Amino acid sequence: MVNALVIGHGAREHVIGETLSRFGAKLHAFMSFKNAGLEDLSQGRIKIHSETDFKEIIDYCKENNIDFVVIGPEAPLVVGIVDAIEKNGIPCVGPKIEAAQLEGSKIFTRGLLQKYKINSNILSKKFNSLEGVKEYIKERGIDNIVVKPDGLTGGKGVKVYGDHLFSLEDILNYCSDLVKGRNSFLLEEKCDGEEFTLQTFVDGKNVVGTPLVQDHKRAYENDEGPNTGGMGSYSMEDHLMPFISKNDVDDAINDMKKVVAAVKAETGVEYKGFLYGQYMKTAKGIKLIEFNVRLGDPEAMNVLPLLKTNFIDICLGIINGNLSSNISFEKKATVCKYLAPEGYPITPKKDAPIIVNRNKLEEIGAKYYYASVYRENERIFTTSSRAMGILGIANDLKQAEEIAEKGVNCIEGDLFHRKDVGTMKLLQKRIDHMNSILNK
Ligand code: AMP
Ligand code: GLY
Repeated sequence: MVNALVIGHGAREHVIGETLSRFGAKLHAFMSFKNAGLEDLSQGRIKIHSETDFKEIIDYCKENNIDFVVIGPEAPLVVGIVDAIEKNGIPCVGPKIEAAQLEGSKIFTRGLLQKYKINSNILSKKFNSLEGVKEYIKERGIDNIVVKPDGLTGGKGVKVYGDHLFSLEDILNYCSDLVKGRNSFLLEEKCDGEEFTLQTFVDGKNVVGTPLVQDHKRAYENDEGPNTGGMGSYSMEDHLMPFISKNDVDDAINDMKKVVAAVKAETGVEYKGFLYGQYMKTAKGIKLIEFNVRLGDPEAMNVLPLLKTNFIDICLGIINGNLSSNISFEKKATVCKYLAPEGYPITPKKDAPIIVNRNKLEEIGAKYYYASVYRENERIFTTSSRAMGILGIANDLKQAEEIAEKGVNCIEGDLFHRKDVGTMKLLQKRIDHMNSILNK
């Protein structure tokens, strides 16, 4: 039996742990905040401690004969967790620090895509002062501007003209704040289209795709309200999207293979781990919005439960550089709905009790994953972030959405969710939007 250690404490790590356990791993979890799901799956083989304290993690691995480590979140990856652990002879599923720059530095990534002439790249220019900013905006046109700080910003740094910035003054003020905070930034071409997530397994050379997913970043129904960590996501039984073709996916995978080769050429380091591509299909083809060097949250919940191929073999294939391209998933649709505390993301109601009717969830066939909640004396309480992900899996989207929605109703508490995620009505809106762009 392999001893597998998961690092991280959210719903993404809960589903990673569940999948490792499903395929027979003896699970351990190292997390800065106790995830009740990981605690149960690991039967108490857990340590609650900072996820960037490498020494403690290495000590835990040695004391518990850990065979390999799977790193969930980006924060430890971009500061070199894999380099530190692997130096001690313990293999990891995750990129080393140089390769993790694909998420850690947007300037690195755009520079790489430009240098290696990657098709899905878009126009961008880097700045570390206000010099030339006004001229660039004038040259590109104000309604074509997106401002992106260089480093990790927890999903809150990107500001798009028309969505978050509404005048030249707004743009200049934001750029000026970034300069004051000693942050470099990109001014990037604004794309119009439909976004999709392509999560892949990468072993240094091979890039193997998983079912496409679409996330919902806005807090409220009809894509209104502030951006969040993601309020829910869906995937289709054919593993595509009605507005994304197999050709689009092949284009994205080909580009990702080129990027992986470019990372090796530039840094000498092979990219190994999960590589998450956020793409937008536009009138000019698919365009890369950003890379993440990890699985998505919620998107991990849409793909890992469908895995038919042994996940432990996939992890070992990534580690050993001999990943099979033959990885199969159930031909099912999934809908994940996140429950968040009332008021999230602006004034979330913390420390409110949640009642989870497990028997009813099981009866309905809905799965559930703990995100930012804590358990005290068998009771679950909210924090200031997303609380639980509820997942429906079925032969088609309509049924998967119904299961997810019924599942949500098995959770009581001061929570809200987006009822529209995964509905046919919202899907049709996406299809119409895509058609209007392609037929312009
Ligand atoms: P990111 O943090 O890079 O995922 O960006 C957050 C969101 O901003 C994305 O999901 C997009 O909806 C939007 N966005 C980022 N870059 C662009 C772009 N170049 N054009 C249009 N929208 C963008
Ligand atoms: N769902 C977006 C992310 O994981 O970054």
